[in-house]
Amino acid sequence: MKTTKTLLSIFTALLLAQAGSAVAQDTADEGRELYMANQCWQCHGFEGQGGAAVRIAPTVYPFEAFAQFVRHSNLMPAYSPNVLSDEQLRQIFEYVRTMPEPPALEDIPELSDL
Ligand code: HEC
Repeated sequence: MKTTKTLLSIFTALLLAQAGSAVAQDTADEGRELYMANQCWQCHGFEGQGGAAVRIAPTVYPFEAFAQFVRHSNLMPAYSPNVLSDEQLRQIFEYVRTMPEPPALEDIPELSDL
């Protein structure tokens, strides 16, 4: 009986974890759309790698700091809640968090052969 209960709770936990990661993926997908639609890519690059402005991926900031910057920066266009809701900003943040880290210089043959 106890084993059944334990198995059941493990199963439930697994199901919940899977649902959670599917939701996170959806959020990141929405975030990608918003990242493109709100022109973040123009300055920070399609991979968040930077270009006209600094690299922003993978972000080192917690959400609050990221949001503070996007909302109140005077270094870039500030996005007010009228333009980008809190939920949309969260989606962009989740997307930026999924952007991969760049490879180490040693792992890029063209650069390590110099
Ligand atoms: C017109 C160009 C431009 C656009 C568009 C833009 N940014 Fe920026 N962003 C900047 C500049 C410039 C900075 C300041 C970089 C610096 O000198 O630290 C910055 C900084 C940031 C930072 C802080 C980076 C750091 O580590 O200091 C974040 C986060 C960020 N931008 C996110 C976004 C997001 C999300 C969007 C879209 C909603 C966006 N930016 C759109 C130009 C832009």
